[in-house]
Amino acid sequence: MSVSTKARATAAAAGEQRAAVPDHVAIIMDGNGRWAAARHLPRIAGHREGARAVRRTIEAAIRQGVSWLTIYAFSSENWRRPAGEVFDLTGLLRHYLQTEIAELGANGVRIRFIGDRSRFDGDIQRDLANAERATAGNLRLNLTVALSYGARAEIVAAARAMAAAAAAGALHPDTADDAMFAGFLSTAGIPDPDLLIRTSGEQRLSNFLLWQAAYAELVFLDVMWPDFSEAHFAAALAEYARRERRFGARPE
Ligand code: FPP
Repeated sequence: MSVSTKARATAAAAGEQRAAVPDHVAIIMDGNGRWAAARHLPRIAGHREGARAVRRTIEAAIRQGVSWLTIYAFSSENWRRPAGEVFDLTGLLRHYLQTEIAELGANGVRIRFIGDRSRFDGDIQRDLANAERATAGNLRLNLTVALSYGARAEIVAAARAMAAAAAAGALHPDTADDAMFAGFLSTAGIPDPDLLIRTSGEQRLSNFLLWQAAYAELVFLDVMWPDFSEAHFAAALAEYARRERRFGARPE
């Protein structure tokens, strides 16, 4: 084999490998409470350990060559948890924003938040905006954190915004299509997830990325989120690589 043929073959093999790595991984981080209960610890101990797992997962995503990572950290339904747990979770978020963002920025991570941030205290809203601003130039990993997020509310807000644009004459309803609608979602500009992982053994979407995950491969893992490791992440990527993605079409 000539040098150039060999180089092409190597590049093709590398290309195939890269194609098997999902560009965008979304994760429903579930099981913090059960992890804590199994150890006779308060739920906040599970959430704290869960925050450590977030750090590990960001590092794993970078190492594995994933470009986009979206994590479900707080759902719009989570506000209905007991006040003490909501206080603990928002306190953990405050702490995370104050202690982790500089390091994420130094590691080339760009952070964005989706969800109804108006429900958080003013200082948290300010820290969220600062974190987005401070990391806006980073390219290594795009991390999106869903906070006070619910997919149905997101879709309704997008429908309202599109209807308002139509009423204002900025668009004609007949021209509306998938791509235009997606541009009104909070994830506008972010590619759809290729792989969606849920931990803790539960097998449902819980109002997460309902529009965006239309063609995502779903992987459910029997591990509580605080125990989630790079090996679990790699196992999910390996499962993804084994799947045949058809996007509704039949193979030739
Ligand atoms: C689900 O476990 C997890 C949550 C509701 C919160 C997720 C939060 C973290 C992983 C830590 C904080 C992250 C950041 C970015 C600050 P659960 O409480 O529903 O567990 P259970 O189903 O076992 O009760």
